[in-house]
Amino acid sequence: MSTSFAERTQGRFDDLKVVEFARLTGGETVVEVGAGTGNFLQLFGGVAARLIAVDLTPGMLFEARRRFPEMEQVVADGARLPFGSRAVELVATAQALHHIWEPLPILKEMRRVMREDGRVLIVDQVATERYEEAVVMNQLEIVRDPSHASSRPASALRTLLRVAGLHIVSEHIVEKWERLSNWMWPGEFPEERIDQVKRFIDTHGPKTGMDFHRDGDDYVFKRRRIMLLASRATP
Ligand SMILES: C[S@@+](CC[C@H](N)C(=O)[O-])C[C@H]1O[C@@H](n2cnc3c(N)ncnc32)[C@H](O)[C@@H]1O
Repeated sequence: MSTSFAERTQGRFDDLKVVEFARLTGGETVVEVGAGTGNFLQLFGGVAARLIAVDLTPGMLFEARRRFPEMEQVVADGARLPFGSRAVELVATAQALHHIWEPLPILKEMRRVMREDGRVLIVDQVATERYEEAVVMNQLEIVRDPSHASSRPASALRTLLRVAGLHIVSEHIVEKWERLSNWMWPGEFPEERIDQVKRFIDTHGPKTGMDFHRDGDDYVFKRRRIMLLASRATP
């Protein structure tokens, strides 16, 4: 399962230019909360001095270690990071907040461990700003993956960062066309679940704000991701 996830999601961040966006100059420590199999964190390899993958799921970190032996791994909850305060230059999280119902304690904890002059980097998929579309998009995501919590509109993520005591210094929204056949690999997802998602798209797809359209047996849709770089709002 972790291997399939790693293979399916490989390369999905490669064109985001995260090193430049995060303003790394070299020699920093980068911690990723919810690092999974390490596909995002590895992008900082060769620039950062230390890469520390934090995740709740040991199986995901096991796969990260197999693929990227240079990474350090820590099994921990992002809401209770086993690091000292003001210790880390860059504290990141990618594609994890939408699995988390209560992101505020995690964002506050990321702020706690980041250095005085450090940065927090958030990458996550977003819903549109239309409430009704966000609701239907999340219904679809839960049919696909019951561990999904909430894809939030960009405005909700900005508000959460502000409430966590963070000041957004840079923001970028990236749109990319994706295929259902790649979003739900047959080996990774049961066939009945794929059929269920197809039926959902046929009935409710136009209400998700994800711009679904059919392409033969497959479906194409727009994936929107936000990148937010933040500093400490107050000392
Ligand atoms: C969709 S995966 C993303 C993995 C990786 N960041 C990537 O994009 O390839 C989400 C990860 O977040 C982890 N996770 C969920 N809740 C967490 C928490 N409270 N603390 C730490 N990790 C968490 C899950 O175990 C999972 O590995």
